[in-house]
Amino acid sequence: MSEWFDNEHPALRRCWHPVGEVAEFEGVGPHSVQLVGEHFALWRSASGWSLVPDQCPHRLAPLTQGTVEGDVLRCAYHGWCFEGDGTCVEIPAIGTEGTVPPSAHLAGALVEERYGLIWVALESPIAPLPEIPQWGDEVFGLVRLPPQAWNAGAAQMTDNFLDVGHFPFTHTATIGDANDRVVHDYDLARDGWTFSAHHEHSAQVLDGSGRIETRTMDFACFAPHHVSLRLGYADDTILLLFFHQPVDRDTTRVFVIQLAESLKRDPSLGPSTIEFQQAVGKEDRDLLETLRTKGVPLTPGHESHTKADRITVELRRVLADLAVAAAAG
Ligand code: FES
Ligand SMILES: [Fe+2]
Repeated sequence: MSEWFDNEHPALRRCWHPVGEVAEFEGVGPHSVQLVGEHFALWRSASGWSLVPDQCPHRLAPLTQGTVEGDVLRCAYHGWCFEGDGTCVEIPAIGTEGTVPPSAHLAGALVEERYGLIWVALESPIAPLPEIPQWGDEVFGLVRLPPQAWNAGAAQMTDNFLDVGHFPFTHTATIGDANDRVVHDYDLARDGWTFSAHHEHSAQVLDGSGRIETRTMDFACFAPHHVSLRLGYADDTILLLFFHQPVDRDTTRVFVIQLAESLKRDPSLGPSTIEFQQAVGKEDRDLLETLRTKGVPLTPGHESHTKADRITVELRRVLADLAVAAAAG
């Protein structure tokens, strides 16, 4: 088992990752996508989305230079054609009588559309796509933050979004209550490839007024590194979704979606909501990008934990279990 879990950990091939908002991919493609340090070609046909490595097996030309013809992707160099599952179905130079060699086929992948994002699993997924029961609930309005690429590992960013001890220090200008330093006991429960936690603390309300209020935080973390966080305020319920795309070893794109009752009541709050969440995110990002490591350790001895860190220790357990399950095939 690899000691550190970073954006190129082999277990991530068997997990679901967002690769972009649906709205980013205009037309049929092929579109260029980067995931776990590799390049892929994504395209759309009548049968849905497909994704294959962005390298033709013939002379290694990028297939993103090719063209989508109905259900197949044709390479721009010598015209080989690939179906959505990677099967090479035509090599023009050998005519219809020729035999396509086994080495001409590419690996396919699973591609799904959910939460307005395109999701990919490169190999048979161990953990399911995140289930968000509140999705589509009419009580919520919704905003999407523009996707951002951080110079940090997805596991580190998830660690940060789950962390209940950093608010009074990292978020002094936005949500933190400087006097709320002690992390009180909180509930934590593991269920397969997800775990959840319930926490209560005091925080600044989200209108930038600096007013302090007690809020509840209900976390759900979905392997490998996706988080939903339900925030309960006296006059609002908010659901923040953090979905991570491990682009390469040092880079992660994060897709943040906020559902809120207040946004339903008053959709004009959208721009200020986005601006405020971006300010909160910037505080995290400025800190995280200074870390010299880009993954989280799975084995003891690299970090010091306390009881306040139970939730982020649980993340390490889930990632370690994922690494073991992937290694076991
Ligand atoms: S390199 Fe793609 S068909 Fe030759
Ligand atoms: Fe934070």
